[in-house]
Amino acid sequence: MFHHMKALHYKAKPSQPDPVYAKKLQEILGGQFGEISVMMQYLFQGWNCRAEAKYKDMILDIGTEEIGHVEMIATMIAQLLDGAPANVQEEVAGQNPAVEAVLGGMNPQHAIVSGLGATPTDSVGYPWTSRYIVASGNLLADFRSNLNAESQGRLQVARLYEMTTDPGVRDMLSFLLARDTMHQNQWMAAIEELEQTEKPIVPSTFPQNLEVQEVSYKFMSFSEGEDSAQGRWASGESMDKQATIEYVANPEPMGEMPTLNPAPAYIHNTPIPGKIPPSADQSHFDQQGPVM
Ligand SMILES: [Fe+2]
Repeated sequence: MFHHMKALHYKAKPSQPDPVYAKKLQEILGGQFGEISVMMQYLFQGWNCRAEAKYKDMILDIGTEEIGHVEMIATMIAQLLDGAPANVQEEVAGQNPAVEAVLGGMNPQHAIVSGLGATPTDSVGYPWTSRYIVASGNLLADFRSNLNAESQGRLQVARLYEMTTDPGVRDMLSFLLARDTMHQNQWMAAIEELEQTEKPIVPSTFPQNLEVQEVSYKFMSFSEGEDSAQGRWASGESMDKQATIEYVANPEPMGEMPTLNPAPAYIHNTPIPGKIPPSADQSHFDQQGPVM
């Protein structure tokens, strides 16, 4: 059950309307790393959670918080759009306000489609899609995705902070930056806990003796030079503490040169000179040809 409270989680009031900025702010609402994405990602991870009860509770805590962030940003966008077409009309008397809104950089759908309201789309109008979210049932894999979502999200909020001087907008963004600080901490803590209770390589339950263990801990340099040998990834104990990482400067092919069988005649691939593709006999074409 979800219970709605009328007050917002935090203040979401601009000092003045700014329809062009409203378009930009759509990115952290309906963009790939916007609030709708994290809301849906966490809610589905929570609803599908079959792990220890504390994880389901924690995931749904943050998922529910994100519903409130969606509400705050949608409310902020609506107020940034206050009187948008009318203002433009005053400046450019006699011109169609919707046309002028496009020329002025406003999202015309904010006037035409949503009636001065937010839409579940990004800053260039691309619709939010469920393809943005990850909910696999493997919490360690999902929590790493969550950490990425919060990292990309906080980065975009910081960039949007730089794009405005409106104290009201900056106030709301500074709240979101703070919550993203906690949320990155939260996922880092949850990842660390899971890495300690199971192994850090996902999925930890797949038997490692079924993989080609010869290459499990080799860093292979597939490009010119050996600069990559200087990183932590190239030597020392492996992060899963199972082996020592070995640097392979010139990896050799481990497979054979591939040769593909010719395609059947009905596929009409490029013919090989001197070779008849399978099923290319005349009777095949006689049977399939047009009736005269
Ligand atoms: Fe959020």
